[in-house]
Amino acid sequence: MQVLHIDSSILGESSASRALTREIVGRLKEQHPEAQVTYLDLAAEALPHLSGKSLARSDELEAARNATALSEFQAADVLVIGAPIYNFSIPSQLKAWIDRISVAGETFRYTASGPQGLAGGKQVIVAMARGGVSGPQGEFGESYLRFLFAFLGIEDVRFVRAEGLSISPEHRAASLAQARAAIAAVAPVQALAA
Ligand SMILES: Cc1cc2nc3c(=O)[nH]c(=O)nc-3n(C[C@H](O)[C@H](O)[C@H](O)COP(=O)(O)O)c2cc1C
Repeated sequence: MQVLHIDSSILGESSASRALTREIVGRLKEQHPEAQVTYLDLAAEALPHLSGKSLARSDELEAARNATALSEFQAADVLVIGAPIYNFSIPSQLKAWIDRISVAGETFRYTASGPQGLAGGKQVIVAMARGGVSGPQGEFGESYLRFLFAFLGIEDVRFVRAEGLSISPEHRAASLAQARAAIAAVAPVQALAA
């Protein structure tokens, strides 16, 4: 089983989403000792924004970045993604990665009857952390990731949520404890490959 573990928080060791992805991956490794884990820290090694040169494939370094991001994504059976909420959505570092793995003809295609995802069969576990509490308005993180992965053909997307982290230290501790308890429900994921 190939696991792609991605962190995108800029808050280093204080990050809630990093703590949660670490636990999720630890649990996956306990249950699937054969799992191969590739780790991307998109804050420590940020991918540049996609550019015209990236799309035109006129820049060798950019072409190599695209190829690496795409092949890591395509090889993964399970993705574990740390997604903090910054300004109502995911960090731009994570968006820069998404821009490199959403490739027409590779991970989706447009057909006469609508778009078709080509990256099916994967499972995604998102550890989502936010300072406030999500409501019906202004929620562009979880809904965006669900829509994106469905567009790419991935329907099995699970969320571990830690909310209200900035309300008070007590609230943060309780919310993290609740999120940790929820990890048991989302991982183990069903083994996709031995
Ligand atoms: C730049 C920035 C923007 C933020 N914007 C929001 C926001 O829009 N909504 C919210 O609920 N919390 C917001 N927060 C709080 C974070 O969601 C919270 O700190 C959370 O713990 C981030 O996850 P992390 O600890 O993994 O980085 C923001 C924090 C930062 C640093």
